[in-house]
Amino acid sequence: MTSDKELWTAVDHYVTDLIVRPDPALNAALEDSNAAGLPSINVSPAQGKLLHLIARMISAQNILEVGTLGGYSAIWMARALPSNGKLITLEINPKHAETASKNLGRAGVAGLVEIRIGRGLDTMEQLAKENRPPFDLTFIDADKPSNADYFAWALKFSRKGSVIIVDNVIRNGAVIDSNSLDASVQGVRRFNEMLAAEKRVNATEIQTVGIKGYDGLALAVVL
Ligand code: SAH
Ligand code: DHB
Ligand code: MG
Repeated sequence: MTSDKELWTAVDHYVTDLIVRPDPALNAALEDSNAAGLPSINVSPAQGKLLHLIARMISAQNILEVGTLGGYSAIWMARALPSNGKLITLEINPKHAETASKNLGRAGVAGLVEIRIGRGLDTMEQLAKENRPPFDLTFIDADKPSNADYFAWALKFSRKGSVIIVDNVIRNGAVIDSNSLDASVQGVRRFNEMLAAEKRVNATEIQTVGIKGYDGLALAVVL
């Protein structure tokens, strides 16, 4: 018998092969990330393309990412940027950042991307002092207990119309368990409550299934 997870995976492969069609640099980024021992927790190809399409739909010129890993999602988003665009991606682990740097270089987008190594919250505090243009798109995908704090910074870095996307907000459905002992689940719940109460955004959450199992994305537009 085919399990739900097997079916979601088979359909994700079908959609990816037919519609997403990831290219050699993206595949190589995953291969080298694996070889370097990075965890396989990057967005799926279909999700990476969703990030790419959203960036294009809003003509994003300045993008912020929290959680670089091997640069897989960063490559997808950087490829949506115009030649004068910029993606700043934040990563705490120097080994991840080094792998990402190589992967971004091979993908031909190194000139559009700046990787900043450090705790995301510290780097965001630093970014706030730099008098930068607002970020048109922020993708939050790092340690889940900090989600609410990352979101608060993302709001500060936004303008009217900016889009904020947060990964992993469903956690195999565990998000509805208010008694969960999982710090990531509690972090997501705290973020969700903040999102619900935040009058400066209009938001939804979409459950997703596929090669990464059952999870979801939060999408918000800044009013
Ligand atoms: N966005 C990536 C996946 C990110 S995985 C992709 O889809 O390709 C989460 C990453 O966040 C990991 O590389 C981890 O090292 C990093 N991370 C964890 N805690 C962090 C923190 N406090 N600050 C910055 N990065 C952090
Ligand atoms: C994990 C983190 C992620 O960002 C993700 O997309 C999937 C899993 C994790 O830490 O387990
Ligand atoms: Mg994620």
